[in-house]
Amino acid sequence: MNSKSSVPKTSHNSSRHQSFGRIQEWIQTETGIEGHSEFARFRISVFQEGIIRIQASRFDSFESNPYSVISEPAQVDFSIEQKGNQLEISTTLIALNLDLDNFSISFFDRNGNLLNADDTLGTAWIGSEVTAYKQVQEHERFIGLGEKTGNLDRSGRAYTNWNTDYFGYGIGDDPLYMSIPFYIGVHDKGAYGIYFDNTHKSVFNFGASNNRFVYFSAEDGDLDYYYIFQPSVAEIIKAYTSLTGRMQMPPKWALGFQQCRYSYYPDSEVYTVAQTFRDKKMPADVIYLDIHHMEGYKVFTFDGEKFSDPKAMISRLKEKGFKVVVIMDPGIKTQRDYFPFEEGLEQDLFVKYPDGKIYEGQVWPGWCGFPDFTKAETRTWWAEKMAFYTEAGVDGFWTDMNEPASWGQFTPNLIEFEYEGEKASHRKARNIYGMQMARSAQEGAAFQNPDKRPFVLTRSGFAGIQRFAAAWTGDNVASEEHMLAGIRLVNSLGLSGVSFAGYDVGGFAGESTKSLFARWMSIGAFAPFYRAHSMINSNDAEPWAFGEEVEEISRNYMKLRYRFLPTIYSKFYLSSITGLPISESLAIQYPQDEKIYLTAYQNEYLFCDSLLVAPVESTKEITKVYLPEGDWYYLYTDKKYHGKGTIYKDCPLNYLPVFVKGGQMLTMQSDVEFTGQKTDGVLRIHVYKGEKGSEFLHYEDAGEGLEYLQGDFLKRTISYHPESNSLAFGTAEGSYSSDFKKLKIYFHGFDSASVTVDGALFPLKKEDFAFLERLTEFDPLPENEHPYFEIKDLPYLELDHSLSAFSITGLN
Ligand code: NOJ
Repeated sequence: MNSKSSVPKTSHNSSRHQSFGRIQEWIQTETGIEGHSEFARFRISVFQEGIIRIQASRFDSFESNPYSVISEPAQVDFSIEQKGNQLEISTTLIALNLDLDNFSISFFDRNGNLLNADDTLGTAWIGSEVTAYKQVQEHERFIGLGEKTGNLDRSGRAYTNWNTDYFGYGIGDDPLYMSIPFYIGVHDKGAYGIYFDNTHKSVFNFGASNNRFVYFSAEDGDLDYYYIFQPSVAEIIKAYTSLTGRMQMPPKWALGFQQCRYSYYPDSEVYTVAQTFRDKKMPADVIYLDIHHMEGYKVFTFDGEKFSDPKAMISRLKEKGFKVVVIMDPGIKTQRDYFPFEEGLEQDLFVKYPDGKIYEGQVWPGWCGFPDFTKAETRTWWAEKMAFYTEAGVDGFWTDMNEPASWGQFTPNLIEFEYEGEKASHRKARNIYGMQMARSAQEGAAFQNPDKRPFVLTRSGFAGIQRFAAAWTGDNVASEEHMLAGIRLVNSLGLSGVSFAGYDVGGFAGESTKSLFARWMSIGAFAPFYRAHSMINSNDAEPWAFGEEVEEISRNYMKLRYRFLPTIYSKFYLSSITGLPISESLAIQYPQDEKIYLTAYQNEYLFCDSLLVAPVESTKEITKVYLPEGDWYYLYTDKKYHGKGTIYKDCPLNYLPVFVKGGQMLTMQSDVEFTGQKTDGVLRIHVYKGEKGSEFLHYEDAGEGLEYLQGDFLKRTISYHPESNSLAFGTAEGSYSSDFKKLKIYFHGFDSASVTVDGALFPLKKEDFAFLERLTEFDPLPENEHPYFEIKDLPYLELDHSLSAFSITGLN
């Protein structure tokens, strides 16, 4: 039997539930088994030791999504055993049990613990809609699903995946701009992940309106999901991103502060804003050109009056250390003499009706055609057109409105997309469209500037979007609740493979209050993507626009962000190879701690593994913080707390509650005005005493360009071993010569007055060091003396790759 043989069809009332039914025939294949019932066919493939793919279709062949999964099945040993009507497929990590009577599947770990199982309703159809019904395990919680509002634990809610332009969405509204049909189930027996690889409109119901099951369904297409088991949530995310890919290392400047508004114009205003950052000594790297840079909102044009010489403008901004990111909307005005439209028409690049007429929808420029980004020729054409911007010196691209959005928000379903030669209607292609536009933008940036790293920011996307772009959470609202909701969105994106994500700091729609803006700027300093943005016709919303106090608080946290850059950059590197987030929900490291799911604590997260950020509304002066197990140090004073408990913490506007995890390390640098500016050459390493030690991978490279892929980087592991009271510096790898010439190691929570290096004793010096600067009038920081050790007189002077490993002992 092969998958092309036809499945005998039953006469069926398509308005009723039709289950998969009893398996009539199955055979073993190279990667697993396949077979069929009277009604449908299935295939089960072992993809990796910890990943099994399940496919079921009513048709003669299986459909697949050509966009999201980029890895091939690995060569894995597995066994198949039949016991009566039960079939067991096992790898070293997973034991799958298939009931041949009803195609219901259960997944166990190798110790026999049941992780996930179908309800007896199993896999079923109602017309073209396919559903997998799953039992709920004891104390089961559901996390992830990408850009979804609501609680960290998604139990009791249902979500729809249908990319939607949603201006000023409410904090419980759904769907939003981006769909990632991947979730993680966590319960007493462990955790598992399910990625449903179907681009149609899909629904994930985690127990809304029923107490029998959870389910996921798609309006059409096959049941096609990847079951992932690994012993930890972190490894499940790694496995998911081994399927759908990981972000590429972004240019370092994209980690700096970014300023946007809808819109800065004319060019003189853009300069003024940029110059004000420098005058006010607020570090910043990027300024955005939103839609008013264009002539009549037509992509690939500059408004000749407002921006008479874009090249000169951009080069002046570059002199100040600014990069320019430009918005690109997909809609191309259907205007006869407008070149991109003429070209697209001539080359047959637009989305069309089935009768061959171009589909037109209204967006900013008026009636528009939509380039079919599911067609390789269109992506290449667009990539080539981007020369228009790169020749003017533009460094980054912002793909907006790519759901695709159009006025009325109701795109007719019959329109057709190329879908890589398979042809698909809007029902199947919509969710993938934005990601393909981002892909095209990334390819364009790389094509135009092959020596540079692309930076693309996207609003819409699907599973795998992390390979092409950073994401932001669209048109949020200037409110306290939105500020907190944005954190959950970013953390949920992080659980779903998208590490490089952020929100509009200050809120896009509405007006931020002074205090809200200050708090948002401090929280945003601990977001992977740090950008302030606001709506047309709103009040000024730059970090200096809310008065002196807000300005000082903003500056303080912006500067802190830049001082933390060595840590952030190192974690971006790690994320690019592991897929693990930079802004981590506590559910990754503490999935079994029920406290972290409580609404009071669900917004807390770990930034760069070591900093626990406890976000709090700007209106509060005191907040309750839950600290998970371990020791925690309040960032600003080093006050130590024992975890697994709740504390009350003052949270005046100038102190965002942030705690460092005992046993961890942080690296810092001196103040800079933008990421590319030279530091004082001292790498500061902060070590926090703890019962459990840790490893910190210090990573450096040129911050731009692709030479790092050829080994032009510097990597060095620094490990803290509490058992031996020592800190070990591994040998450096790579050919990049460090930006730092000196090391200064600060010890937090230790009593030692001296350390030994290679047998020689060195007394520690003391310094009044503070993470934040003293603010003029508000609440001066406490004195904060820190013992430190400076490596400058030793042969370890340079953090050069040629240096051998060394260790510091005597840390008590
Ligand atoms: C919608 C985007 O979400 C917003 O950020 C942008 O400013 C406007 N489009 C105008 O381009």
